Amino acid sequence: METLNVDLADRSYPIYIGSGVIGQTELFLPHLVQPKIAVVTNEVVAPILLSNFVKGLRGEGIQVTEIVLPDGEQHKNWQTLNRVFDLLIKGNCERSTTLVALGGGVIGDMTGFAAACYQRGTPFFQVPTTLLSQVDSSVGGKTAINHPSGKNMIGAFYQPKLVLADPDTLESLSERELRSGVAEVIKYGLIRDLPMLEWLERHLDDLLRRDRDALEKAVFHSCRNKAEIVSSDEREQGMRALLNFGHTFGHAIEAGMGYGNWSHGEAVAAGSMMAIELSHMLGWLDKCDVERAEALFSRAGLPTFGPALGVHRYLELMQHDKKVQNGVLRLVLLEKLGSAVVSDRASLAEIERAINARVRCG
Ligand SMILES: NC(=O)c1ccc[n+]([C@@H]2O[C@H](COP(=O)([O-])OP(=O)(O)OC[C@H]3O[C@@H](n4cnc5c(N)ncnc54)[C@H](O)[C@@H]3O)[C@@H](O)[C@H]2O)c1
Ligand SMILES: [Zn+2]
Repeated sequence: METLNVDLADRSYPIYIGSGVIGQTELFLPHLVQPKIAVVTNEVVAPILLSNFVKGLRGEGIQVTEIVLPDGEQHKNWQTLNRVFDLLIKGNCERSTTLVALGGGVIGDMTGFAAACYQRGTPFFQVPTTLLSQVDSSVGGKTAINHPSGKNMIGAFYQPKLVLADPDTLESLSERELRSGVAEVIKYGLIRDLPMLEWLERHLDDLLRRDRDALEKAVFHSCRNKAEIVSSDEREQGMRALLNFGHTFGHAIEAGMGYGNWSHGEAVAAGSMMAIELSHMLGWLDKCDVERAEALFSRAGLPTFGPALGVHRYLELMQHDKKVQNGVLRLVLLEKLGSAVVSDRASLAEIERAINARVRCG
């Protein structure tokens, strides 16, 4: 087992990474305020992981309320959140009851937001069960639900007390969701960790066949990067924005195609290639760099072109993005492979060209 720490003074918390950590109740118990938890999960994850997970805890005398939500990004909304509140109240959950997110990023984001709001804030744990949530969304305390016109538009910064990332849980994950998570792993390499990019170029196939060591390494180094960034810029006043690389374009794809049709990682992959294309147009990346990034996304089975929404629709959706400040679109671009910057250097015409260059019709 590997342990990382997100360093945020009195709100610091550990990330435990390793095979079997999900069943190690001793990691859990010291962080409980009262012997009562509410596990939030969904209809897909529940039959696979819920009963084993709660059995161990009930065995330790913990009272457990189970909240099983419908599956999918299209349910990351007010209605589902309200259902969580209804069931927390019905289960007599209190302010010191710990909410546990058992699932992917959708469950993690919604549970975190529910924890931020319920009785003005209850403790919560992240038990991520997709590669994407293990390498990204479970760490850092961004919680949210979607609005029909924009991803994650309603939410809060609210840190978990604990993250348990167990690569064993990824065994049941679909091929498509595994690949989706790889998009965020590639992102860390592109924005700030060239050695990780090189490691991925050598070990991508191991990762895709779910070799346990490769998975653990990918989760560990992703969380290490994320923990470093979050520890130094929790509220995204500076370097944390770099994590949004590919996301302004990607969120436009997700919203434009209807939530759930493109997975988050697929949208991020195509969005990253748009940002890379733009970085190339500005003269920061050369053709070889573009090809190198494209080869990695392609080998991971991820799209390197976005859907033909029309450039105006892209721009309209991108204007709703939280990265817009005083009406100016600030994009995360690469000054070289392994080093990202936030920039408003690209003109609208260049942004349009980059989108058009990375859109595939049909
Ligand atoms: N908070 C953040 O910092 C942050 C960062 C990145 C992404 N996100 C958010 O995360 C979400 C995407 O997360 P995701 O890719 O995990 O999607 P997801 O939560 O929808 O999970 C993908 C699919 O895998 C299923 N699943 C989960 N665990 C499984 C398992 N162990 N076995 C089999 N199936 C399993 C889910 O039910 C779902 O159908 C998006 O809403 C995105 O906005 C948040
Ligand atoms: Zn993401």
